[in-house]
Amino acid sequence: MLSPSLSLLTTLGLLLTTTLALPTAAPPFHVRAKQSAAPSLPASTLPSPPAGTTLKYVALGLGTQNYTCASPSASSPPMPAGALATLYDATARLSLPSGAVQIPKLPATSLKSSNGLGLPQLGQHYFTSSLVPSFDLAAASPPLFLSAHKAASAPAPADADAGPTASGAVDWLELLDNGRGATRGLAAVYRVETAGGKAGSCEGVGAGGMQVAYAAEYWFYG
Ligand SMILES: *[C@@H]1O[C@H](CO)[C@@H](O)[C@H](O)[C@H]1NC(C)=O
Repeated sequence: MLSPSLSLLTTLGLLLTTTLALPTAAPPFHVRAKQSAAPSLPASTLPSPPAGTTLKYVALGLGTQNYTCASPSASSPPMPAGALATLYDATARLSLPSGAVQIPKLPATSLKSSNGLGLPQLGQHYFTSSLVPSFDLAAASPPLFLSAHKAASAPAPADADAGPTASGAVDWLELLDNGRGATRGLAAVYRVETAGGKAGSCEGVGAGGMQVAYAAEYWFYG
């Protein structure tokens, strides 16, 4: 969870980073000291978090995006068929003085090393049999759950990590509570800083479909 002191450290980290990058005529620290207290989502065209919500966790997700192919030919378009990922708790990374700088690199680094970078496990991201995107933060205190639907998407930046097979980085997303009653303590999650996960060609892909390795940051609001 985010404490006020953690937020302050993050703000200081951001200030230091920003200030170091500016020319010597930069305004003194206090001019920028009134920024919002909580770490803010990486910038994108996605809508802002729902009014009245606060940041609960930032997770690193590492797993696969799954696709099926109607036929094993290059002309067959891959169809999304869910995903499975382990979620690791990266929230504390934001409290390091350099946290705001480090955190965008976590997914690409994690994907390259195929591990959770030593972060504690937070839970799982999976799809139900009826393809409802679900986030089970079993290790959160209290445990949190988001049964979601995709609300908005934006292409990953051009310089995003394209993954081990260079198929590309999946879109950034906003997912909201789907209102079916399964959600506990969360309202929204953002998938950002994606690495890999886009489908390759269906050529030669059989009945088992395609599992494409990916990693992303998931920012949970509730
Ligand atoms: C996705 O692929 C993984 C293997 O990476 C598998 O364990 C999981 O069941 C698949 N999920 C779906 C919804 O197909």
